[in-house]
Amino acid sequence: EKTELVLGIESSCDDTGVAIVTGDGRILAQSLASQNELHAQWGGVVPKLAQGAHQEAIDGGIVETTLEKAGVRPEQLSAIAITIGPGLSLCLRVGVRKARSLAAAHNLPLVPVHHMEAHTLIARLTAGVENVQFPFLALLVSGGHNLLVLVRGVGEYVQLGSSLDDALGEAYDKTARLLGLDVGGGGGPALEKLAKQGDDKGIPFSVPMIRKGNCDFSYAGLKTAVRLAVEDKVGDDPPSESNMQVRADIAASFQRCAVKHLEHRTKRAVTWARELEPEISCLVVSGGVASNQVVRARLAEVAEQAGLPLICPPPSLCTDNGVMVAWTGVERLRLGLTEAPPTEEQAALEA
Ligand code: KG4
Ligand code: ZN
Repeated sequence: EKTELVLGIESSCDDTGVAIVTGDGRILAQSLASQNELHAQWGGVVPKLAQGAHQEAIDGGIVETTLEKAGVRPEQLSAIAITIGPGLSLCLRVGVRKARSLAAAHNLPLVPVHHMEAHTLIARLTAGVENVQFPFLALLVSGGHNLLVLVRGVGEYVQLGSSLDDALGEAYDKTARLLGLDVGGGGGPALEKLAKQGDDKGIPFSVPMIRKGNCDFSYAGLKTAVRLAVEDKVGDDPPSESNMQVRADIAASFQRCAVKHLEHRTKRAVTWARELEPEISCLVVSGGVASNQVVRARLAEVAEQAGLPLICPPPSLCTDNGVMVAWTGVERLRLGLTEAPPTEEQAALEA
């Protein structure tokens, strides 16, 4: 039997991701153009610059190259999956335009994909659909969102909790910059590395929302506590040998509290999820921050105590990528959740 062949394009933030996957879960090719270096000096992702970099990647032929690597001609595709949000609209538009013009040129159906759904469903590709059966519980931790979701099926989600302010990835990024780290390879990884040298009880930060009996997240208070600790213990001094230890202690203590907060919320969410669906199959942890080793280790413990398998995609598929979009395209295509391609005239007008 012939399997689906789906091209996925991701351009919601600062990574241009392209991939081709099959319906039986093989990744035929993938490409990723990352913009970390570009934004490092600005203290965050600059939408205009990000848009330019996405356009450069697309104009440079990232989609065509990926198809070639896969040995796939566009007319062989079953569909084109494209992230339509949430994200930076300037950036999303670059990917959408490319997807629509390709779909028009080859008369292919389009699959609009929600970025957080893609972070969730990728676990079914990496672990195998038989190991991540519906219903399951998902903890999604990225730069823009923290979510606890009961996943009943494709497109069937019950949100159990979400971030009230900053998402955890954003808190990692801001903390990394406050500590004067080189964020050219991403703030999260830089902070994780520094934290390895620190005492995670060195600074008495408190775990957020201890007395709030829900599954929501808040990192604004912890972020302020970190800022005050940096002002108090490091001041305006540039990173140096002499303040290295205290900066590492701040990093480790921040990480310990931040992750404890994830543990608390997720434990409660398991209970809430089981009230709605007694037979959840596993705990999925995904999104950029799920590439963090401490996050993975602590959530493994939560899963074990709950008697659930922990499913964490490999780190490179936790952060933004084209594979998760292509795979979500497969899942949605199977349910007929597609859009007709635009006409070539329409696509030309949009270009
Ligand atoms: O999912 P993602 O790639 O993009 C969004 O959808 O936002 O997540 C990006 C976030 C960034 O804030 C980044 O700092 C964080 O994930 N991140 C990490 C690690 N790797 C990426 N945070 C902590 N530890 C890491 N190793
Ligand atoms: Zn993401």
